[in-house]
Amino acid sequence: KPVAAFDLVIFGGTGDLAMRKLLPALFRRFADDQIPLQSRILGVARETQSDDDYRERVREALDKAVNDKQTLADKVDAFLDLVSYRPLDATNDEGWDDFAALLNEVDDHVRVFYLSTSPRIFVDICRRLKQHDLNGRGARVVIEKPIGHDYSSATEINDAVGAVFDENQIFRIDHYLGKETVQNLLALRFANVLFEPLWNAAHIDHVQITVAETVGVEQRGPYYDTAGALRDMVQNHLLQLLCMVAMEPPASLDSDAVRDEKLKVLHTLKPINADNAGQATVRGQYRAGAANGGSAPGYLEDLGQSSSDTETFVALKAEVCNWRWAGVPFYLRTGKRMPERVSEIVIQFRDIPYSIFDAGSGSIMANKLVLRLQPDEGVKLWLMAKYPGPGGLRLQAVPLDMSFAEAFGVQQPDAYERLLLDVVRGNLTLFMRRDEVEAAWRWIDPILAAWERSTDSPRPYAAGTWGPSASVALIERDGRTWHDGDGQ
Ligand code: BG6
Repeated sequence: KPVAAFDLVIFGGTGDLAMRKLLPALFRRFADDQIPLQSRILGVARETQSDDDYRERVREALDKAVNDKQTLADKVDAFLDLVSYRPLDATNDEGWDDFAALLNEVDDHVRVFYLSTSPRIFVDICRRLKQHDLNGRGARVVIEKPIGHDYSSATEINDAVGAVFDENQIFRIDHYLGKETVQNLLALRFANVLFEPLWNAAHIDHVQITVAETVGVEQRGPYYDTAGALRDMVQNHLLQLLCMVAMEPPASLDSDAVRDEKLKVLHTLKPINADNAGQATVRGQYRAGAANGGSAPGYLEDLGQSSSDTETFVALKAEVCNWRWAGVPFYLRTGKRMPERVSEIVIQFRDIPYSIFDAGSGSIMANKLVLRLQPDEGVKLWLMAKYPGPGGLRLQAVPLDMSFAEAFGVQQPDAYERLLLDVVRGNLTLFMRRDEVEAAWRWIDPILAAWERSTDSPRPYAAGTWGPSASVALIERDGRTWHDGDGQ
């Protein structure tokens, strides 16, 4: 069903995110007839260029990002008719009157400002929007991470944006929440009766959340080196996944009902600080090694610097201190230059209480539910079964294996497709509320402080490996192992 007609202004309209993700996502929704033809998409950046020049850049970006060349050929011109460009500088008032007049030409469109810029200029942009009276009439603002680099800077950004927009106009995006499998976690947990009775410490031994990437820092060194994996991935994506797994059933899918439950989880996380960071966290930095069948440089070479203490890998043991989860560790790990690109959540159930089978039947593997976010989104439930044949009773672990692509026969949409339309619809459920972002930082800050105080540097790991050996030790100390992909 199409959304209402909208005006979407992308600040940072020539940037990497706009070209690689936002515009292709809008195009795919357009090609699927979900975007009304009267809608307007306005790229904004500082440089001067004509509408046609900008459209050409968008065309090239779509050409790279959209696989289906036929759709592209059929629909791209009609899509580009929606697109135009305005040069604007948030630190200077020139051009803002015309920009406001252009937006005010139409008064029945949903109005969305997407701040796909450095957070340093969020405040200036919001101030100008207010000065030109563009923040009213149901306008929405989307802000991208990083929302600050610690609790206090996040609060400043939230204060500044909050001075111009009401909380229910602010869409803080975490694109992991737009991924299909993450939403499917809601369906799996709350549209089935099977899992929820088992979803607790009595039946679950531990949870693993892995987000592994094969890429290095690419062109993003200047940003990444000030952030590191803990700020770039754990503070937002991995903690959001943890919340979706650990939260209590919300009373409804209403945005505040869901976000209240996630917030409670963040509040129950056991603090990691100087006392326990050495045991509960591991940070690593990649050195030269292998990637994509060839050799890959180390982080410092990618960065063009001779030294850096920024971590490109983190493993940590989080604990959710409440009745449901006491004693169930959540092992989190994320890194760049890992052997494969894989994001998954593993729910490891406990061992059976007693075996009726004799030793000759083979060992019994505890049940395991693996939710795969990417690639090949799907759900695998590992069960024990009898190996076929008339011989003795031999047991073997086999997966009930559901691939979303096969089960539904449709291509999985990109997270931004869902999230951008949710902004237009005004649905905040999959966006982070102010208190969530701040609670996540409150948990992250003491880890950062402990690392800063420590004299240790991140541990080296070769590109193309699963991080430093200390990451294996972190989980093996507890008598557990990282899930290795094939489920065994
Ligand atoms: C971004 C991080 O938020 O997520 C990047 O800043 C990371 O460093 C990216 O590469 C991963 O997203 P995805 O969707 O490719 O898993």
